[in-house]
Amino acid sequence: MPTDTFGRPLRNLRISVTDRCNMRCRYCMPEAEYVWLPRESILTFEEISRLAGIFAGLGVRKIRLTGGEPLLRHDLASLVGLVDRHEAIRDIALTTNGILLARSAAALRAAGLRRVTVSLDTLRPERMVAFARSARHAEVLEGIAAAKAEFESVKLNAVLIRGYNDDELLDLLAFARGKGVEIRFIEYMDVGGATQWDMGKVVSQREILETVAGRHGPVTPVREHNWAPAERFRLEDGTVFGVIASTTEPFCRTCDRARLTADGTFLLCLYGEHGLDLRELLRLGASDAEIAGRITGTWSARTDRGAEERAALADRGVLHQIDSLRADPRREMHTRGG
Ligand code: GTP
Ligand code: 5AD
Ligand code: SF4
Repeated sequence: MPTDTFGRPLRNLRISVTDRCNMRCRYCMPEAEYVWLPRESILTFEEISRLAGIFAGLGVRKIRLTGGEPLLRHDLASLVGLVDRHEAIRDIALTTNGILLARSAAALRAAGLRRVTVSLDTLRPERMVAFARSARHAEVLEGIAAAKAEFESVKLNAVLIRGYNDDELLDLLAFARGKGVEIRFIEYMDVGGATQWDMGKVVSQREILETVAGRHGPVTPVREHNWAPAERFRLEDGTVFGVIASTTEPFCRTCDRARLTADGTFLLCLYGEHGLDLRELLRLGASDAEIAGRITGTWSARTDRGAEERAALADRGVLHQIDSLRADPRREMHTRGG
C-alpha cells in the first residue's frame, strides 16, 4: 500500500458521484446559480467501478459514496453492487441528505451497502426552508427511519453555525439518542463553496463540549486510535457522539482520505488545488497497471495538510471567492465530496 511523505496510507476513498444536489445548504451551496460539470465528463458507473478495483488493488479498503447528493444518480444501488464485487473493499458507505433515502434503502442494502450517514442540521422544517432551500424535512426524517431499519450503522452529521442552528445542539443530541444513532457535530469549514464563512460563525469543539457537559455532566473522550475525522465522546448514560473539529483542531496528521471528484479527478485533500485526471487516463485507454502506477506516484509525493495550513493563518477568511469557484467548479465541496 502506498504511503505519502508523512507516512499516511492510501486506505480510504471518498467518491463523489455527482455535483448536483436537491438542497442548497448555506455552508455548501449558498449561491443562486452554479457552473455544473459537463454531463459527458461525469464518470459512468463502469468507470467508477473499474477505478474502485484499481484502488482496492493498491490497498484501499473503505469506499464512501458522496456528492452533491449521490441518490440523484439513477439506480445508485447498481453502483454499490459493482463496487461490492471487489472483494478487497470491506466497507461501502454513503453520505446523503436523506431526502431520497427511504425509497432506495432496501435496494442499497441488498446491493451491499452497510453504512449510511445522513446530514441533519435542524429539527425544524421551517429552518430547513430558510437554510437549505428545501421543504422536504419530513422526507429526511423518513429517510433516517428507513436507514435505521436497513443498515448496520447509521450516523447523523450536523454542521453547527452560530446564529443559525447552534441553539439546537442539545435538541439534535437528544433526537439522535432517541433514535439510537450516533450524531457528529461538525465545525463549519472554510472549504470551497462556503462563501459565507467567517470564523465568528464557527462553533468550536470546545464550545460544543462545554454546552453538552453543562446539560449532561461529564463528557469522556472515547480512547481509540483511528484515522477518522471524528473524535468520539461518551456521556454518563452511555450515549456516544462525535465532533469533527477540522477548523479549530485539524487532524491532517492522521488523514488517510483520498477523494475522487464526480468527473474523475483524484484529489489528495479537501483543500487541495491539484489533482490527477483519471478520467483522461481511462478514456485514453490506459491499462489498470498504468493507472495504478500514476495513483501510487501521486500519493507517494503527497504533502497536503490543508486544514492545518488554514488553521495557521493569522487572518483567516474565505478560501475561494465566487469567481475562483466559477473558474474551476472542482474547487466546490459539492463536486469533490463533502
Ligand atoms: P467514517 O469514518 O467512515 O464513518 O466516515 P466519515 O466520518 O469520514 O464520513 P462523513 O462523510 O460523515 O464525513 C464527515 C465530515 O468529515 C465531512 O462532511 C467533512 O466535514 C469531514 N471530512 C471528511 N473528510 C475529510 C478530510 O479529508 N479532511 C477534513 N479536514 N475533513 C474531512
Ligand atoms: N463545513 C462543514 N461541513 C461541510 N459539509 C459541506 N460543506 C461544509 C462546510 N462548509 C459537509 C457536511 C455535510 C456533508 C455532506 O458535507 O457535513 O453533512
Ligand atoms: Fe447538498 Fe450536501 Fe451540499 Fe447540502 S451539504 S448542499 S445536501 S451536497
